[in-house]
This record gives sequence, structure tokens and C-alpha cells, in this order.
Amino acid sequence: MAEIRIRNNDERIRGEEQVRAFLDKQEVLYEHWNPDKLPQELKEKFVLSDEEKNEILHTFDEEIRDLAQRRGYRTWDVVALSDATPNLDEILKKFEQVHTHTEDEVRAITAGKGIFIIKGTDDVGYFDVELEAGDVISVPEEKPHFFTLMDNRQIVAVRLFIETEGWIAHPFADPSFQK
Ligand SMILES: [Fe+2]
Repeated sequence: MAEIRIRNNDERIRGEEQVRAFLDKQEVLYEHWNPDKLPQELKEKFVLSDEEKNEILHTFDEEIRDLAQRRGYRTWDVVALSDATPNLDEILKKFEQVHTHTEDEVRAITAGKGIFIIKGTDDVGYFDVELEAGDVISVPEEKPHFFTLMDNRQIVAVRLFIETEGWIAHPFADPSFQK
């Protein structure tokens, strides 16, 4: 289950209802899929063949189509990152810059963990959303954010797009960013 950390005061928000209420206020969509639908071997696998990626999409086909229908996504894929990914450090460096997109950024975590760092309302400032398998998040368009891995450096996620070009990152220079 997702957990929030507010960077200003290190406050943590736990529990599905509290997390959902907080993210709701920040206009970040949060939903949950049952990660146990995945076969055991795919819950712990971070280097995936095309066949295995398709199996993940097939497992969550109903959830994906439901989300796509409600929110207008037209394409989706599976992304896997781990220490086995060539140039992982470079990829993460590129990720770890505050940016915006012209469409929302949707990720459904199916294995591993990851963090979205998001610029909240002025009274909240930057906050982290720590995600694990089953967590589904959508960061709204034009909302400054970035994504990174957690200490285990392993994640598998389904990404959904309205237009793939909508995912282009526009750097957001922010002197108020809280490291
Ligand atoms: Fe992004």
C-alpha cells in the first residue's frame, strides 16, 4: 500500500483511506489492483521477455481496460527496471529532475517499488509517494514531479498513454524544490 512522506516536515501518511484522501486533495489519482493475480514467478522477476510482459498485461487486462475507458488512455505497455538494466544509473539521473508533461503520467506497479516526488499545493510543498505492487497512480498533466527507484532498485510497472508524445518531459526549474 502506498505511503506518503511530506518533505517539509517529514510527516508520514499511512493507511489506504488517509493516503487516498491526501492524494485526492492534491488531485493525484490513486487506485489499487490486486497484485496477487500475478503468478508467483512474475512477482519477483525484473528482467522480462516480451512474452512475460504480455502475460502481465493479460493478467490485468480487465483493470487496464477499465482505467483506459474511464480516462481515455489508448495505448499501454510494461516497463521493467533493475540493476540488470543497462545504464540504470544514467536512466535514473535523467528521471531525477523535476519536470512536467502535457498529459497525465499513469503507472500501475506490478512488482518491486518506486517513488514519485510531486510538487503539492503551497501549504504542503513537495511530497513523496512510495509505491509498491498493486498501487496505481496518475500524476496530472502540468504537475511538477519526478520518479525514482527505492533502495531495492527494482520495479515493474504498466504505463498507459493517451498519446505517446504526451509523455515528453519538460524540465521544470524550481528554486523551491526540497531535496
Ligand atoms: Fe514524468
